[in-house]
Formats: sequence, C-alpha cells, structure tokens
Amino acid sequence: MSQKISLTRYLVEQQRIDGHIPAQLRLLLEVVARACKSISQAVNKGALGSVMGSAESENVQGEIQKKLDIIANEVLIEANEWGGHLAGMASEEMDSIYVVPNRYPQGEYLLLFDPLDGSSNIDINVSIGTIFSVLKMPDDDRGVDEADFLQAGNKQVAAGYCIYGPQTTLVLTVGDGVAMFTLDREQGSFVLIEENVQIPDDTQEFAINMSNMRHWDEPVKRYVDELLAGKDGPRGKNFNMRWIAAMVADVHRILCRGGIFMYPWDKREPEKAGKLRLMYEANPMSWLIEQAGGMATNGHQRILDIQPTKLHERVSVILGSKNEVERVTAYHAEKTAKL
Ligand code: AHG
Ligand code: MN
Ligand code: MN
Repeated sequence: MSQKISLTRYLVEQQRIDGHIPAQLRLLLEVVARACKSISQAVNKGALGSVMGSAESENVQGEIQKKLDIIANEVLIEANEWGGHLAGMASEEMDSIYVVPNRYPQGEYLLLFDPLDGSSNIDINVSIGTIFSVLKMPDDDRGVDEADFLQAGNKQVAAGYCIYGPQTTLVLTVGDGVAMFTLDREQGSFVLIEENVQIPDDTQEFAINMSNMRHWDEPVKRYVDELLAGKDGPRGKNFNMRWIAAMVADVHRILCRGGIFMYPWDKREPEKAGKLRLMYEANPMSWLIEQAGGMATNGHQRILDIQPTKLHERVSVILGSKNEVERVTAYHAEKTAKL
C-alpha cells in the first residue's frame, strides 16, 4: 500500500458511502480505538506498570478477575461515557448494564465488550485482546434497560477486536467486509494494513482445548478423531493444531490464514450452553468471520440468529473456514436425526 490510510480516514470514507455509517457511529468507533490504544499501553508496561496479577475479586460469572480485566473495563467506560454517542454499555466484567449518566447526552448506540480476552495469558506475555460489539437502541425506546441489549447478533452495526500481540492490531467490520489496522506507535494512529480480509473455505489447522476431549459430545469427538487420524484416516490429509487460550488470538490467526476454532458445549457443566459468552465474544467474532467468508454455528444454528435471553448468556462456538464448520454442523445434525 503506497499511501497510508488511517482508521480515521477509513471511517470517514465509510461514512461517505451512502452514509454507510452515521457520524455518531464513526465517533463511537474512534473512541473505542482510542481506548484500545490506551489499554495497549498498559499491556505493554506489564510488571513495570503494576498491571499484572490478580485483583482478588470475582466477576458475575464466578471468574477471578485480573488487574488488567478491571483496568481495561474502566478505560473503555471512561472513554465512552461522555461523548454523547452511547445510551449504555455492557461488559463481561460488570454484573449489570451501565447506563450513561444523566450529566452526559444520551446517544442511540449500545456498546458491549469483553475488555480483556485471554486473561490467563496476561502474566505470561502471550497475546490478549479486547472484543467489542455495537447495537442500536431499539426505536421509540425511552430509557435504556437490559432488554434493549438482548438483540440477536445479526442486528450488530459494528463489531471488532483489538489484539495486543507482537503488534497491536484493530480488526473491524461495519458490514462491508473486514478491515485490519495496525497501531503505528510513532504516529499514535491505527493504519490500514488489509481490506476485504477473506478466509479460505478449506484448512488443515484446528483449534480446540484437547484436554476436554473426554467431556465432548459425540459429533465433536467424531470430527476431531477424524482430524487426528490424518492422512491414513477418512479425511486423507494431515491436520495441525494450535490453541492460544485467547479467542482473540485464535480468531486472528483464522482471519489471517484460515482454520477452525471450537469451544463446544461439554459435559463438565452440562447446564451451561458453552464457556464463551454470546454477547461479548461469540457474536462479534461470528460476524467478523462471516464477513470474511467463513461460517459460525453453535453446532445446530447460525450463532448470529440466536435470540439472547440474558446478558451474560453462554454459547457453544464453532467458527472459521466454511467447509470445516459445515462438516461439524452436519455431524451434529446427523446425531439429532438419529435421536
Ligand atoms: P476471558 O479471558 O475473557 O475469560 O476469555 C477466555 C476464553 C477464550 O478467550 C479462550 O478461547 C478460552 O477462554 C480459553 O479457555 P480454556 O482455558 O478452557 O482453554
Ligand atoms: Mn474472553
Ligand atoms: Mn475477558
């Protein structure tokens, strides 16, 4: 790319295409990007910035919070509450929704986020990230409440993540393909590195936490067994495995070179639909993957069509290269048909 295109310019151009994104949404995305820059600074400082280790508190999902989970959450709230573009926010790290205080103007958007994804990677200097999803307030709604957030993923108007790895890269969709921007630290701005990201339909790489194998449902076990059999098995080719323990990093790899990622329902806690959160993780990632030509299901249906019934809802996730996701989903359908 001969001329550098900043995130700001990209968004302004998106705004010009038939008003593809309204000015308020553009502002919102700029603010989220600014917050991610600031989180990136904190992440980079590590132990030198007293951001490592546990905060010794628990979130609503019973997970021990890391200091950086809380810092990232605060950075996102402080950056977004005063701009007038939002009505409310919801976060993996907050029990209930955050309504923009009365002293600020109310906007028409809702912002949902996983402030720090891959918390177990923080203390070992491995990639982590921030995942976000943007919804519109339902029309004719007076006063924001939790019900306003309970919209299916297909209603998202923007979604993305920022990965804090060897580079800090922001990945975004506003429904017009997937674009990637890497942070230029000297300039302090995100610069477009790729537009129209596309995932190959086929892959020889899969990501799943294999230590849970004994708890999986039969269709997932069948699929992974076939991959492990390699060239001598029914697939007739070898597969490689990667697991970074941060969805943001596993999804980033898939957007860069294809692959399949699974965090399926399993028998450890059968009453839970899965481990990952629908509103903060699965929905934004599924939209990005679909926008890049991939596919995302919970084994039975398109993730983006799931109607959420609660804010912190969990879901089984299978996403990535189309032909592989189709296969795992078909194995689930075969099992259901036998019942
Ligand atoms: P979070 O750090 O926001 O709680 O999310 C971690 C998630 C996801 O990013 C990752 O793929 C998965 O948990 C890893 O789980 P395991 O430790 O069970 O492998
Ligand atoms: Mn997460
Ligand atoms: Mn998190």
